[in-house]
Parts: sequence; C-alpha cells; structure tokens
Amino acid sequence: MSKYSILVVNGPNLNLLGIREPQIYGYETITDLENMLKNIGSQLDVDVSCYQSNYEGDIVDKIQKSRKEVDFILLNAGAYTHTSVAIRDALAGVDIPFYEIHISNVHKREEFRHHSFLSDIAVGVIVGFGLDGYEFALRGAVRFLDRKHQE
Ligand code: DQA
Repeated sequence: MSKYSILVVNGPNLNLLGIREPQIYGYETITDLENMLKNIGSQLDVDVSCYQSNYEGDIVDKIQKSRKEVDFILLNAGAYTHTSVAIRDALAGVDIPFYEIHISNVHKREEFRHHSFLSDIAVGVIVGFGLDGYEFALRGAVRFLDRKHQE
C-alpha cells in the first residue's frame, strides 16, 4: 500500500493542454502531465489519481467524494478559480489540504485572473512554473504530509 493518496484535479479547458494557446500553456498534453505525475508518485511511494472536468458541479462532486479517501489535492481549477464559490465551499467542507496550481503566471495576465476564490484557504499556491509546477506541488504535498505525520 502507498504512503498517501493524492488527487490531481484539472478544471475546464485543461483537457486541451498541448492544443490550447501553446505559447501560454506549452505543448505537452494532459496525458503527458498525468503520466509524469503518476511516475513521480510511484517513486515517492504515493498513489496519484487524476481527474479532469469541464463542469463545475462535477468538480464539486469529485471533491466531496474524496473526503476520507484522499490525503491531499493538487488543484488547477482553471477559470473556476476566479469565479467559483461552490468549489471553494467544497474544499472547505471536506477539509482536505490542497495546493492551488496555475501553469501560467496569472498575475501578469488580465486583471480578472488576479483574484482567486481558493488561495486564502489553500496550503500554498504555485503559479507560473508551467507543468513543472505540478511536480513541485506533488513533492511539496508529500513533504507536507510527512511533516504532519511526524507531529
Ligand atoms: C490557469 C489560469 C486560468 O486563469 C485559466 O482560466 C486557465 C488556466 C493556468 O493554469 O494558468 O484555464 O489556471
């Protein structure tokens, strides 16, 4: 059995990674990303499961179902970051620690991307590191959980 269960959630339009605005989001696909995270997960002895949806309610359902099943969530909520009280409430409701991830540096983009409904309840936020940000988040989550279990 793996040490921890970590859920990666990608929100709307992230299924188009590799096709969508590659000058911003790069040329790697979501399958490349998920395979990379699963490989690193097995090296770190953690179970990584991946979920993507374009629907806000489905993301809320997925977060709710993760209660007591998942130790940490890595979440790129895409555009819902800037709009969704429902996703925020789901995260607060299940009380699972999470990192908010953005591939691009949202702070150097349009004003409407500067606000997040998630950041102030996240353990941390990773912004602007491209897909590497997910790897940093995964490694960070394991260290966070290791520290928590040492307490
Ligand atoms: C994003 C940034 C969001 O503003 C945008 O709506 C996305 C992707 C990112 O990863 O940089 O869909 O979350």
